[in-house]
Amino acid sequence: MCGIVGFIGNQDSKEILLKGLEKLEYRGYDSAGIAVINENGVKVFKEKGRIADLRSIVDENTLASTGIGHTRWATHGVPSTVNAHPHQSTTARYTLVHNGVIENYDLLKREYLQNVTLISDTDTEVIVQMIELFAKDGLNTEEAFRKTLTLLKGSYALALLDNQDNETIYVAKNKSPLLVGLGDDFNVVASDAMAMLQVTNQYVELMDKEIVIVKKNEVTIQTLNGEIINRAPYTAELDASDIEKGTYPHYMLKEIDEQPAVMRKIVQKYQSEQGQLTISEDILQAMNDADRIYIIAAGTSYHAGLVGKQFIEKMAKIPVEVHISSEFGYNMPLLSEKPLFIFISQSGETADSRAVLVEVKEKGYKALTITNVPGSTLSREADYTLLLHAGPEIAVASTKAYTAQLAVLAILAEVTAKSRGLEVQFDLVQELGIVANAMDVLCGAKEDFENIAREFLATTRNCFFIGRGIDFYVGLEGALKLKEISYIQAEGFAGGELKHGTIALIENGTPIIALATQESVNLSIRGNVKEVVARGANPCIISMKGLETDEDRFTIPEVHELLTPLISVVPLQLISYYAALHRDCDVDKPRNLAKSVTVE
Ligand code: F6R
Repeated sequence: MCGIVGFIGNQDSKEILLKGLEKLEYRGYDSAGIAVINENGVKVFKEKGRIADLRSIVDENTLASTGIGHTRWATHGVPSTVNAHPHQSTTARYTLVHNGVIENYDLLKREYLQNVTLISDTDTEVIVQMIELFAKDGLNTEEAFRKTLTLLKGSYALALLDNQDNETIYVAKNKSPLLVGLGDDFNVVASDAMAMLQVTNQYVELMDKEIVIVKKNEVTIQTLNGEIINRAPYTAELDASDIEKGTYPHYMLKEIDEQPAVMRKIVQKYQSEQGQLTISEDILQAMNDADRIYIIAAGTSYHAGLVGKQFIEKMAKIPVEVHISSEFGYNMPLLSEKPLFIFISQSGETADSRAVLVEVKEKGYKALTITNVPGSTLSREADYTLLLHAGPEIAVASTKAYTAQLAVLAILAEVTAKSRGLEVQFDLVQELGIVANAMDVLCGAKEDFENIAREFLATTRNCFFIGRGIDFYVGLEGALKLKEISYIQAEGFAGGELKHGTIALIENGTPIIALATQESVNLSIRGNVKEVVARGANPCIISMKGLETDEDRFTIPEVHELLTPLISVVPLQLISYYAALHRDCDVDKPRNLAKSVTVE
């Protein structure tokens, strides 16, 4: 949440910073700002709203080859121009951008800043005021920055400018992601390599509690104690075209359409030369050593975990528990003797999941991260990583990452099963090929889903998804998709639970989207549909070929019963997309949300 950029070099920085912020808008989009510095000092431009709003107020005539920028997802203080970053100290000597949350900011304010008038409601302003306070006490900027950092509790990625020095950006990080990018006669700072791919693909990872002094031709990384660290850069393997919308009106639609190709790519990436699916030996060993697997994730990734549990238990016969990461710290279950933790996270940066990872590592347990982002925090800090190979997912609503998570979990389950000498009743390579083809068919049926959205969801204030067994988990994901982008109150329910309370919500015309892809529960879910219809509901049944009846609204192609979530979710993604469009919602950037949730 919140994105940071910085540039120091040989050309005007404004456009590079603004373009960088546009690429980071997925991390927060309620306000934005840049600060640029030249021999005349610092100039700050900030505005409530999107980067486009910021762009309109930036003074074209201010030329400066050093600058920092920020796009915000509000934590402390409402979205407003005053609370937007950069923040400045009272004399405007220091200018700071921050991603993260300072937990002890109120304490620091009371202890150090009784005589300073703060103008914003942010925790960030406390940091910049403290730096100025220590500088007034006689410390140089680096010392004042360092001293302030030692007093902060919480998460931060910071970039700081000193009005008296237009040749340095001071950078630090703890728990929030931050990279330094290297160029020829310039260097950059970014929350995500994607932001600065426009100028470089060479990046250096930063670790928690490091300080970096960034100059045009030099980058010095140090620990908080001043120990110099040498770390080689890596090449960001991102194709600039992967992060463009191309001819699509929205990233979400593009990413839904990419799903068949992602399925094929995952199979190719996990296939040996002999055509077998493979997983590295150390991961298999960890799976086989475990007496119980604990899947930890949030949101859509949690929903993928619920399906993943079915894959692992049914194929590899290892018991699995699935936990919401933000709850795990308080409600930790009694752990088994030999647990293995699997973290599922598209971004690899989700703070709630990371907090659990830190805790389980402290207890000495092994952890595997399944993520779309190589080098992300959760990937670096776990013992093992499996990549999704889905390509950058930019729309806030997760689509292709969910189906990629399911495919990778299915592969993990199948390969583990085989390594345990268990028979898997189907050929997963072939079945994933069938899944990819089925996805192609569904992506080609957009008009049907647009019609469903118009007919069922154009004006409704709520919508319920029902299913049994594995369909119930897909219903949860369908409901999350719909509510987050169309703001329709949507919930997923297990078909059998309706009569235990929920059915009281059914009114005349309430849309009910029912999934019927499982032969074993087909009759029961259709019975549930009858119950809600008898109470006035407007049913939209999505069935699988072979199980369809005349009353169904759409029938998805047949795939292996266990793999249906990979395709039954596609209609739900598309229905949500069109519902949001019909209701004039900002599909890619829904209100109040951000893509990468880096605060707990
Ligand atoms: C919903 C969505 C979120 C994320 C959740 C976890 O469409 O994208 O619910 O799934 O914030 O994010 P990751 O997977 O990055 O840990």
